[in-house]
Amino acid sequence: MNIDLFEAVDHYIDRLFVAPDLSLEAAIKAGLDAGLPQIQVSPGQGKLLYLLAKLCGAKRILEIGTLAGYSAIWMARALPKDGKLITLEFEKRHAGVAYDNFRRAGITDKAEIIIGPALDTLKKLRADNVPPFDMVFLDADKEGYKAYLEEVLHLVRPGSLILADNVIRAGGVLHPEKGDAMVKGSAAFNAALAADKRVDALILQQVGIKGHDGLAIAIVKDGAGKAA
Ligand code: SAH
Ligand code: DHB
Ligand code: MG
Repeated sequence: MNIDLFEAVDHYIDRLFVAPDLSLEAAIKAGLDAGLPQIQVSPGQGKLLYLLAKLCGAKRILEIGTLAGYSAIWMARALPKDGKLITLEFEKRHAGVAYDNFRRAGITDKAEIIIGPALDTLKKLRADNVPPFDMVFLDADKEGYKAYLEEVLHLVRPGSLILADNVIRAGGVLHPEKGDAMVKGSAAFNAALAADKRVDALILQQVGIKGHDGLAIAIVKDGAGKAA
């Protein structure tokens, strides 16, 4: 493994395909200045989320784990004028930074932050019978991923796209018994996703400026989700 080379190639790809963007850069800086952890998706991963949202023609997107709103801004940019992104965050401070970032990016009409523990919010969205989401991005605590998946499957429709970040953890998921809570959570999620008859799924292994990790990609099958 040559991590330096993977990082250099990541920067090369970003230079070619990720146009400089003042509000995305300001979002990173605001997170840094507020002392938030710098664990947002990379620019290239943000562009991938944007492309996937466009590809599935998403009008309604759900994100679990807002942080400073960096990935949310990327996804909101892919929405049509009447589109909507709901992002869930339990740290009020993170949500505050994200809201300012949404304002700077001009997406407050499309993007809503719901503050609270994600599992509670997901259950409430289900009880409120909200319209199905076309795309869902899991990126909060990995220990919660498996439970989030179960709830999310009641908030989507056949054909919806479900994505989950950080599901490889530098290969830690090969030996979850030796790993931390994050590794165990991601490994449990991967096993549940693979076994779930309601989705068709795969993990995309990723290397680059965030090290070695992976993005799970799942499509909700016919007969599954809300509309079933
Ligand atoms: N998606 C963001 C990064 C999210 S980091 C981006 O790429 O820009 C993970 C976030 O999930 C953190 O802000 C953390 O506070 C939040 N989080 C962790 N556990 C949570 C929970 N149980 N409910 C809601 N949010 C949670
Ligand atoms: C880490 C990275 C992430 O993308 C995330 O969502 C949570 C944690 C990390 O590397 O610690
Ligand atoms: Mg992540």
